[in-house]
Amino acid sequence: MPLTPQFLTQSPALSASSAVAVDELAQGLLMPAANIAPKYFYNLLGSKLFEAITLLDDYYPTRTEASIFEAHNAHIARAVADSGIKTACLIDLGAGNCAKAAALMPFLSPRQYVPVDISVDFLREAADKLQARFTALDIVGVAMDFSSALTLPDAVQSHDRVFFYPGSSLGNFSPPDARRFLQQIADTQQGKASGLLLGIDLVKDAAVLQAAYDDAAGVTAAFNKNVLLHVNALLDSDFDLRQWRHVALFNLQDSRIEMHLEAITNTTVRWVGHERSFAAGERIHTENSYKYTLDGMSTLLKQAGFSHVQHWTDAQGWFGVFWASK
Ligand code: AVJ
Repeated sequence: MPLTPQFLTQSPALSASSAVAVDELAQGLLMPAANIAPKYFYNLLGSKLFEAITLLDDYYPTRTEASIFEAHNAHIARAVADSGIKTACLIDLGAGNCAKAAALMPFLSPRQYVPVDISVDFLREAADKLQARFTALDIVGVAMDFSSALTLPDAVQSHDRVFFYPGSSLGNFSPPDARRFLQQIADTQQGKASGLLLGIDLVKDAAVLQAAYDDAAGVTAAFNKNVLLHVNALLDSDFDLRQWRHVALFNLQDSRIEMHLEAITNTTVRWVGHERSFAAGERIHTENSYKYTLDGMSTLLKQAGFSHVQHWTDAQGWFGVFWASK
């Protein structure tokens, strides 16, 4: 009999007809400076386009992070063990295709694996495949939007905890929001040992950053524009993707890549009860991806309540992997 992982839907905030999603999207689109939150990138097609981004030469974060884990997996496993973590639950925040956690399994040997992702169908498929590879692993998939609050299922309560937040997803939060999010992780103690294994992209040459978010093959442009298809599905709106172009820029002042969708011509978008007109050149802000220094991230982790912070990086210093514990 094929093994099927347990699957929980914690807060279906993004399902079609969700009032929460509709209100949030409408509010963002009606702002003078319109925005769409980056979590809306990840419908099924969006998750697949993001997976394609991670394979691009121009998009260095995924392979650079993987090279750091590969070079230091034994050191990282020792750091985790030195924090007093034994039979752990590995909580994978934004697990996606679960590939990064799968590579860590032989080194961390968790008892339980909790992949959490907003993209329900994509996660379900990934969790099924992982269960076939690691038949003894207790997998509890959680479909959840944890961007506002992180509420964990009861199933994880009896284990030590390794929170796994790779890929620089933390970069989508503003630094104050990132600190609050990290604080939530630091505070989920409850008598068990725990820590956070974090991957974060680092400040570097603007041209390298720019190419990573405006790749030559146009995959990132497709990923950005696809958010409008997802919005059309959720709001029943009539965005015409041909009227919009992808813009990615490095905002040096705020140390972040920004992605926008820019109206090519004057255009009006309509959905039930509302409309919004955009002049040619007007933009919808769809993502911030903050870039840190090693020192800046160490400081943020300490401010969030982690007293032990160590990190590993690649030869070029392009990406950082952190282990943080209390
Ligand atoms: C998933 C948020 C880490 O910021 O690099 C990739 C998303 N956006 N290309 C990133 C993304 C455009 C990615 N994160």
